[in-house]
Amino acid sequence: MTLDLNPNDMTHVVAADREHVWHHLSQHKQYETIDPRVFVEGKGMRLWDATGREFLDAVSGGVWTVNVGYGRESIANAVRDQLLKLNYFAGSAGTVPGAIFAQRLIDKMPGMSRVYYSNSGSEANEKVYKMVRQIAARHHGGRKWKILYRDRDYHGTTIGTLATSGQDQRAMHYGPFPDGFVRVPHCLEYRKQWDVENYGERAADAIEEVILREGPDTVGAIVLEPVTAGGGVITPPEGYWQRVQEICRKYDVLLHIDEVVCGLGRTGTWFGYQQYGIEPDFVTMAKGVASGYAAISCTVTTERVFEMFKDAPEDGTSYFRDISTFGGCTAGPVAAIENMRIIEDENLLENTTRMGERVLANLHQLMEKHAVIGDVRGKGLFCGAELVADRQSKEPAEEKKVQAVVAECLAQGVIIGATNRSLPGMNNTLCLSPALIATPDDIDRITDAIDNALSRVFA
Ligand SMILES: Cc1ncc(COP(=O)(O)O)c(C=O)c1O
Repeated sequence: MTLDLNPNDMTHVVAADREHVWHHLSQHKQYETIDPRVFVEGKGMRLWDATGREFLDAVSGGVWTVNVGYGRESIANAVRDQLLKLNYFAGSAGTVPGAIFAQRLIDKMPGMSRVYYSNSGSEANEKVYKMVRQIAARHHGGRKWKILYRDRDYHGTTIGTLATSGQDQRAMHYGPFPDGFVRVPHCLEYRKQWDVENYGERAADAIEEVILREGPDTVGAIVLEPVTAGGGVITPPEGYWQRVQEICRKYDVLLHIDEVVCGLGRTGTWFGYQQYGIEPDFVTMAKGVASGYAAISCTVTTERVFEMFKDAPEDGTSYFRDISTFGGCTAGPVAAIENMRIIEDENLLENTTRMGERVLANLHQLMEKHAVIGDVRGKGLFCGAELVADRQSKEPAEEKKVQAVVAECLAQGVIIGATNRSLPGMNNTLCLSPALIATPDDIDRITDAIDNALSRVFA
């Protein structure tokens, strides 16, 4: 199907984009000879660009965001009504959608109790880093100020969050970074770092080793993705999370779970951490909270954490002295309320689990046909296939070939993703994160496109 667009009408739009827009993650030299792609419309899992061409989106807006699909009129109406009623007041006061969404969110997160609003995943994570530093200053005599992060994880684009980037190519050229952020090893069993049977426990023990090396009295928190996203869709090995939790309790290290990708349904439960029985102290979320219909991020804490910021009202510096101007926009929480209702009413968690199993089954089938697929991983509608030049040695496939697979899928009208410019020499994982509304036909069309693309690129 093509959209009824007059391409002549769109020429000036594409020209304006080419002249003036600086695209994210893009080398612009290419746009001296080709047009940048400009998207015009979306419906469900389908998108149309300025030439009227249709695409099936297998990555929910490119970066695993549009969880309930495009063109949701009920979200648009809820946002419109709220904007006319009250568009904004700073987060130092409450608003109706802010209060209601916080309550509904906490209902889905037993053990958690407070919601701090801001605008992006990076910002939500930075809030935690500031909270941890303030807890260290006020409750640990300046000790426990270090924050651990894991190799291959990503937590954002600001200088502070890049200091916790486990993806060296993302951080490259942007240093120096602030002190006190310390790396722990990743837990990807396919790329084994220890030759042991209980890999999950061993990978978690590596965190304890870092804590002991740094000194437990200096380590305040650890930030981890429940399933690593842009670092290669890394699902945790058996036993990993239980041991991580034990280590955090043993050394009084606060556990910060970054749900910016997994948050709200992506893995088939409301949150990724709920798949693994984790009891976090902080949970951050952004992308899927309102599926990109409005900007919103949340830093959610336990009551225990919250209490540490109201223990000394006589001290004017004891509370969390932070603000996010646009954290007071009401469009975010009102869109999030409707987004959550859709996930519930349309049983999208259940659909995510079922369709995720279908993606994995299809990818495993492709593995029998294409030796270039070295490993298949995933949870819910969050899946990856790691491509290797050789299955035996596991030598990663070249990044340009992996990108060629993405381009071949695009040529077939299917948008997929791949790790890119994140891990030197290891940008070799195809990434799939279709909207939670995906049907069996959508899934098969996506994996068929990958099948064809692999045949062409690795012929
Ligand atoms: C796990 C994770 N955390 C944080 C972020 C940063 O989110 P944002 O781009 O909204 O700042 C991302 C973005 O991709 C992410 O994947």
